[in-house]
Amino acid sequence: MNTTLESQGDYNGVPAYYFDNRMPGPLLSHQERWDELSRAHPAFRNTLAQGHWVVTDGQSVQEALQDWRTFSSTSVTVLNPEPNFLWIPEMLDPPLHTKWRRLLGEEFGPKSIAARESEIRAIAVEFIDRLLPAGGADVLDEFARRFPTLIFMRLMGLPEEDLEQFLEWVHEMLHLSHTEDPDHRRQMAAMTAALAYFQQQIAERRESPRADLLSRMMQWRIDGETLSDYDMHAFCILMFQAGFDTVPIGLGWMLYHFASHPEQRAALVADPALIPNGVEEVLRVYSFVVPARKAMRDTEIGGCPVKSGEMVMLPLAVCNRDADRFDNPEEIDLDRATNNHIAFGSGPHRCLGSHLARLELNIAMEEWHRRIPDYRIAPGQTLEQTGNMYGLVSLRLEW
Ligand code: HEM
Repeated sequence: MNTTLESQGDYNGVPAYYFDNRMPGPLLSHQERWDELSRAHPAFRNTLAQGHWVVTDGQSVQEALQDWRTFSSTSVTVLNPEPNFLWIPEMLDPPLHTKWRRLLGEEFGPKSIAARESEIRAIAVEFIDRLLPAGGADVLDEFARRFPTLIFMRLMGLPEEDLEQFLEWVHEMLHLSHTEDPDHRRQMAAMTAALAYFQQQIAERRESPRADLLSRMMQWRIDGETLSDYDMHAFCILMFQAGFDTVPIGLGWMLYHFASHPEQRAALVADPALIPNGVEEVLRVYSFVVPARKAMRDTEIGGCPVKSGEMVMLPLAVCNRDADRFDNPEEIDLDRATNNHIAFGSGPHRCLGSHLARLELNIAMEEWHRRIPDYRIAPGQTLEQTGNMYGLVSLRLEW
């Protein structure tokens, strides 16, 4: 495994490691690393950079995510406890956070999202039909990354001809390895360009509102005040991370999993009613989000003496692959009866986009298997997953 992990003895009586979770690694290496660590102890000290705590007990992870008074979202990056930027609503705590979620909930709630089903299905079908004659493709580049990004641009009311530009910014902001961008210059350049883009989009709507989310947000009031341009930016930039990377990663794992498990694929094709369970199981087993919180008071978690102001990493994989919670936790079971996974998080910051994500993933799986029921992993490629959020770097399939 490539994820760097070196024992450093102990720190205030707690096991300590130098652990760099951002390094890329072979398939499932990050998830399996969490399995090992959670079998060894409920938490540890990471000596990377200025140091932080890492919780590896599933129940404690979920409790911390729910306890926003102790574990605040004012920083959600373990390496940066004092960020000089804001992502809305991700980096707000209640009660302000609750006011934002109430407003956003109307846009992203089950009813509003369900109303978009036929539009989302038509986009999926168009992408898949275009790919079909080629007999093979890098499905991350050609489908998994494009499909949700285009839907999101429609939802926000952004011009569709900017899709290629968006995909490039997402890549530069979220996917560059340390070697490709050692001083974060490319990442910052993309962030600046995206900010300028949103500035322009916001200004155009201030001038003449349209029937889209950004224009509607301009009518919202929080504590009697309309939203500032700064708030609208902080929301748009979060959407880049939250909405543009996660569905592609999830979809990539689904196509990988069912390409490499032909019996389960045949079961889905024969009985598409199994697809919703397949989607939930892949999100659970391949868990790829690693939230973090900042302690607001001295406390204890997993046996660790956490001081006010310190950062705590809360990997969802340890909860979603917890043998106390799931039988055969590492296995995808298409007939699993109860699936109380927390792949969309837990507590007040539970994913705003979960209804949209679930609909996109279910539609993508249904339409893909209707059109391309038989596919396999193209030979001659070494599959690797990125660090941070664990997604496949690329995935070539043949059909
Ligand atoms: C399979 C796809 C997805 C997964 C696994 C996922 C997962 C998550 C998780 C775990 C969190 C909580 C983070 C934390 O506690 O710090 C979260 C928050 C969030 N997600 Fe998603 N997400 C997905 C798709 C989406 C989509 C499509 C959107 C956009 C519409 C979205 C928007 C958000 C937002 C805005 C938040 C912050 C919510 C808040 O702070 O109140 N997500 N997501």
